Amino acid sequence: MSLAEKIDMQRVPQHIAIIMDGNGRWAKERNLDRSQGHRKGLDVVHEITNDAADLGVKCLTLYAFSTENWNRPQEEVNALMALVVYGIERETPGMIANGVRLSVIGDTSRMPIDVQQRLQRCIEETSGGTRITLNLALSYSARWEITHIAQTLAREACEGKIKPEDIDEKLFASHLTTAHLNDPDLLIRTGGELRISNFLLWQLSYAEFYFTDEYWPDFNKESLCKAIISYQNRERRFGKTSEQVKNNK
Ligand code: FPP
Repeated sequence: MSLAEKIDMQRVPQHIAIIMDGNGRWAKERNLDRSQGHRKGLDVVHEITNDAADLGVKCLTLYAFSTENWNRPQEEVNALMALVVYGIERETPGMIANGVRLSVIGDTSRMPIDVQQRLQRCIEETSGGTRITLNLALSYSARWEITHIAQTLAREACEGKIKPEDIDEKLFASHLTTAHLNDPDLLIRTGGELRISNFLLWQLSYAEFYFTDEYWPDFNKESLCKAIISYQNRERRFGKTSEQVKNNK
């Protein structure tokens, strides 16, 4: 029995968020340049998006470039920006053909204008895709997101559009960059670190976490199946007791 056959297709996580870590170490172990690790990482994004869609996952949110990544050596930042452009150009036709819709979250205004334009074009060209949403977090950090929402709500309160007491979880969440998506059910982090590095702090409140030592360039369909099987072996209680969950109360 293959790992994919062990998955309960009725309980596949609908939204998986991934911290794709380990590209640099993968490259170093092979005496390659870090950018070659990222390049291999892009190929894995292609494979995993299709594998996830085949398994019935409806959304993948990938941490492709964090706010903190702007502090990397300029050469690596440039290589990553070029890779985004290359990836978008290379993948757009296949995304359209395979029902993959692109979405982007993050402070993209910090990115070079040509990168912004190409992303926007891909978002428009793939907007009809219904098989899976590929949501790229670019120039993203959760503290940036939450601070930005606080500013927006404070401004609306000052302008008299809302009252401070109107601010509840629902209103706050409606301003999240992911407001068009359900919260992730499962977070996967590759590369062996056990932290969430400023990623989706609000949205991951009830996600199941799965950590693997595998570097992102080595992650494959089997790795994804293992993560989903681990997820399916857990009981999601959302603060309730096990009995309540079992009795559906
Ligand atoms: C983390 O590895 C990975 C990144 C910072 C970049 C990931 C980006 C891609 C795979 C390209 C995505 C682009 C598109 C268009 C989908 P690391 O460099 O932190 O690895 P290390 O911890 O081993 O140094």
